[in-house]
This record gives sequence, C-alpha cells and structure tokens, in this order.
Amino acid sequence: MNLTLKIWRQSDANSKGKLVDYNISGVEGDMSFLEMLDVLNEDLINKGEEPVVFDHDCREGICGACSLQINGEPHGPDRLVTTCQLHMRKFNDGDTIYIEPFRAKAFPVVKDLMVDRSSFERIQHAGGYISVNTSGNTQDANAIPIPKKDADEAMDAATCIGCGACVAACKNASAMLFTSAKVSQYALLPQGQVEATERVLAMVNQMDEEGFGNCTNTGACEIECPKGISLENIARMNREYLKASLKG
Ligand code: SF4
Ligand code: FES
Repeated sequence: MNLTLKIWRQSDANSKGKLVDYNISGVEGDMSFLEMLDVLNEDLINKGEEPVVFDHDCREGICGACSLQINGEPHGPDRLVTTCQLHMRKFNDGDTIYIEPFRAKAFPVVKDLMVDRSSFERIQHAGGYISVNTSGNTQDANAIPIPKKDADEAMDAATCIGCGACVAACKNASAMLFTSAKVSQYALLPQGQVEATERVLAMVNQMDEEGFGNCTNTGACEIECPKGISLENIARMNREYLKASLKG
C-alpha cells in the first residue's frame, strides 16, 4: 500500500502544532499501525529528519500507552482494539490518514502525538486502592463468598487500561467512563466497601480538579473504548456518589 499520512507535529506543550504530510510506501496489511509508524520513523532518521514521537509500551493491548486519534477516532476505525492492535489491512491503498494526539485540556501534548495522562494517575491515587491488613492474619480473598454476577462485573470494570480514549472521544472531554470503571471494580466487591465513601468522593473531586468535562450521556466513550467498558459503570458511580454525599 502507498499512503499519505497527515501527522500532527508539535515541539512541546507551549508551541503551536500543525499537520505535516508524509508519503509512505510498501505498507503491508499485516503490519500494525505502530509498525507502520516505525517504518516512517526509520525513513525520517535515515534522511536526517526528526522522527515522530508517539507513546507505546506493551504493543499487545494491555498497558494503555498507545493513544492516537486516527481519522478522528481514538484508536482508529476498528472496534475493541487499541492502536497497537490495529492492523493496516483496515486501510486501502491510496488512503490519506490523519494522525493526531488525543485532544483534552487535561491531556497536554508532550511532543507530536504523545500526551501527558498523569491526570489519570492522580485520579487513581485519590482513591483507586484498598487497605489490607498484611500482618500475617490476612483472610484469603477466595474465602469470601461473592456472587458470580458481581465478580464478573467487577472483573469487566477492572479491564480498563487507562488509555484515555473515552476522554478523547467525548465532546466534553469527560473522564467519567475511566473513573467509574475504577470506582466500580471496588464498589462491587466486599473488599472495596471499607473505603467506599471516601473513595468515590475523592476520585470524582480529583477528576473535576484535573479539568475534565461533565458527562452528557452521549455514549461515544463506550463505543470507542478498546476494552468495552460499559456506561452502566457511570450509572453505578453516580449512585455511589449520591450515597456517599448523603452520608456526609
Ligand atoms: S474506560 Fe476504556 S477508553 Fe477509557 S481509559 Fe478505560 S479502557 Fe481506555
Ligand atoms: S502499546 Fe500497550 S496497549 Fe498499545
């Protein structure tokens, strides 16, 4: 395949960025999107030009580091895959592909296609944990009966990889899907009950402080989420928040 890439280049958070055109040839359908960018970067380095900066780590859909807005969609045109799992066979010879960073006030651009998602980490730090007595008398988690439905739903929520696609997909740049997944994975389990009140208040408060927008029930986040995190988690977080607020 021969492709035209229109890639966002920006030196740092304070500089103005712009789309720059690149032509690339010899792209195979079996290449991942990031492998295609590797080929481009090799070409750029060989020509003495600056390679395109983009975020990646595991390249197998686990870490959530890869974060590209491809033709206006976070993680591109495929469903339930991350950018690193997106294959070039989803594109056609002669296509023009727009590649931009995730856009949100709370995700400032570091360089080119890489954004700073430490705002997500601060939301996690605010309450995304449980305190466990590790004195040696810790009860085996498997000894605590949990209804299968709750265990399954908690596991589903825990599959959120913190990629930020939900924020990038949302017209309000809301982080409700991410935060609600992190709240839900504990709210559904007995181990999460001890700190449940403080957790939801602290995580929602941190989310607001980071400058994420509000949820207006558009549902774009659920569609673009590579892990299929359900909007039901947002409804659960709203219930948890109301309960916690009433407790004071
Ligand atoms: S909810 Fe989905 S889109 Fe949002 S951070 Fe988690 S995995 Fe990514
Ligand atoms: S690089 Fe880890 S999920 Fe894509």
